[in-house]
This record gives sequence, C-alpha cells and structure tokens, in this order.
Amino acid sequence: MDKILVTGGLGFIGSHTVVALQDEGFEVIIVDDLSNSSIENLDRITSITGKKPIFEELDLRDKTKVQNLFKRHEGITGVIHFAASKAVGESVENPLKYYENNLNSLIYLLQEIDKLPHSNIIFSSSCTVYGQAEKMPITENAPVQAAESPYGNTKQIGEEIIQDVCKVKEGFKAISLRYFNPVGAHESAKIGELPLGVPQNLVPFITQTAIGLREQLSVFGDDYPTPDGTCIRDYIHVVDLAKAHVVALKRILNNNNITNYETFNLGTGKGSSVLEVIQAFERVSGEKLNYKIVGRRAGDIVSAYADTEKANKVLGWKAELSLEDAMRSAWKWEQYIRE
Ligand code: UD1
Repeated sequence: MDKILVTGGLGFIGSHTVVALQDEGFEVIIVDDLSNSSIENLDRITSITGKKPIFEELDLRDKTKVQNLFKRHEGITGVIHFAASKAVGESVENPLKYYENNLNSLIYLLQEIDKLPHSNIIFSSSCTVYGQAEKMPITENAPVQAAESPYGNTKQIGEEIIQDVCKVKEGFKAISLRYFNPVGAHESAKIGELPLGVPQNLVPFITQTAIGLREQLSVFGDDYPTPDGTCIRDYIHVVDLAKAHVVALKRILNNNNITNYETFNLGTGKGSSVLEVIQAFERVSGEKLNYKIVGRRAGDIVSAYADTEKANKVLGWKAELSLEDAMRSAWKWEQYIRE
C-alpha cells in the first residue's frame, strides 16, 4: 500500500485526514512539531483506526532534518502538507514567523519530493486567497486578490511556488485544496479542534462558551449587508474535508489528474450566517448560548461560500454532513475534552 507522509498530521484537519487515510488502507507517516497540537492525538488516532501511524516529531524549518526524514523513510509516494501557522492576527504582528515557517517548510519538502520517483503533493490552501470575491458562490476561476494578512499571503505564495515547480517538472503532480471554514469533530469525539488559548474562530468559541470556559461570545457585527446582518461563511465538516484529501491524493496517485497542477474549492456550497451557526448549535445541544452583538472585527469579509461544481464533478467528492452534524460533533468533542 502507498506510503503517505502527512505533515501537521496531529493537528485539527491533519488528524482527521490520517484517520481517513488509514481507513482506506494507506500507510501513514506523521510529521508534527507539536507547536499547535497534542501528542495525545497519536493514541487517539490509533484507538479510532486500530493502527498506530509512524510518528516523527520534527521541525520542517530545518532543511537537514527534512532531508534525513526522506532518507529514513524510503518509498513515500505522496505527501499531504498541512503543517503551517494559521492565526491571522498573529501573522500581522509577526509576519516573519509566518513567512519563515510556512514557506521554508514548503520549499524544503518540495526539494525532497522532487527527488522521489513519485512526486505527489496535496497542499492545504484556503478560500482566503479569493479575499472578498465579487460573485457568490466562489468558483476556482474567481481572481486571487491581494492577501489581507501575511498568513493569507503564505497560502497564495505557497500555491505559486508549487505551480512554478509543476510548470517545469512534468512528473510533478500537485493539488491545492482551498478550504472554506472547517468545523466539527470526529463522531467518536476522540479528535477535534483544540485551539491554544482564546479561540479566534467561531465554533470553538461557541462550544467553549457553552461549557463555561468563556463567559460570552461576541458576535462581530450585525450591520453587514446580509439577511440577518451577520457575516456569511461556508462551514464544512472536518470529516468531509478529510475525505476530500484522500480523493485528491488518489487522483494524482492514479494519474487521473487533467493537468499536473490543479485547485479545488472545498466547501458545502451553502452559506450560513453567524446567527444561523449559533441557532444550529442551540438546536443540537439544547443549550442556550450567551452571546452579544459587538462591533465588526477588522479584516472580516461579508460573505464567502463555495461553488462546489468542480469539486463535485471533476474531483468526484461532495460534502455529505450538515452544519447540525458539525455542531453536534463539535459539542460532543468539547464535552469529552473537558471531562
Ligand atoms: C478565519 C481567517 C481565515 C482563515 C480561517 C482559518 C480571519 C479574518 N480569517 O476565517 O483567513 O483561513 O479563519 O480557519 O481571521 N466570529 C464572531 N465571533 C467570534 C469569532 C468569529 O462573530 O468570536 C464571526 C466572524 O466575524 C466571521 C465568522 O464568525 O463572520 C467566522 O469567523 P472565523 O471562524 O474566525 O473564520 P473566518 O474569519 O471566516
């Protein structure tokens, strides 16, 4: 069976993808520096799948270590690259940390992948590359706009670097997956999203408020030009997202790709407002959420949801789980980790 390297494989999306890969019989090697993840996830993944992935604690900013990693593990046929810093606000405060971490690690990986007989990479990108798109839903042809933050810029530059490599290396195959808003947790509630410190993202803030860790959720603005005045996003269940990585990986492993560099939007195609997310949470949890409307958050866009046609028809993947499924699993996970 194919041997797949998953960087950031103990993180939120990474851990769910490792489970999906193992469920499909892939042999997985995880690399993670544990900067934003927990080693406990290794045992949790093992208890879900019944198979312990190989684990290497390693900082991908160290070129020699990356070279040695590939020497230690011969026969890697695909890499899924999640490992990256992802806090938008922190990236504005400390841009060099973001450029160093997110770009150096990518470059060192690509150099090693290039030496392999099978050069295949799936790259974690983001709908942030579209900025505030003019037309909804957002297709893959929507123009990439100047990034709002160094974090967003590392995703754009990362895509460009990979694309440039693919232009000159015929055997090099890559897919950038542009995620909308990943939420939820595995149905077992053994793995999920565990932000360090105060959550920046909506769903962990909701569940932490409901469990009593945070006093109140601030809803950032209700005066946007949307039906209820709050911002609209496309919340995609992390288990659906994880499966999309397996589908994308098989596509390039089996040479089913049309061009050697491809991009796909990963979303549900449905936009939900902040208030709709809160209502979905309240419905599935039976909890009343303490929230108040406050001013807008700087840098927030009004609306972003995916046109899923390319992912559905070309990639052959479709989100199956609902926002309620996501909120139910996120709540179950929050309760599990606070026990
Ligand atoms: C954010 C990042 C985006 C990144 C993504 C990764 C920003 C501006 N954007 O997306 O670049 O790719 O995370 O997960 O940080 N909200 C509240 N109260 C809160 C938190 C959020 O009302 O306490 C609202 C926001 O205003 C937004 C929605 O909830 O309308 C979703 O916010 P969030 O989860 O932070 O995701 P994005 O901003 O879409």
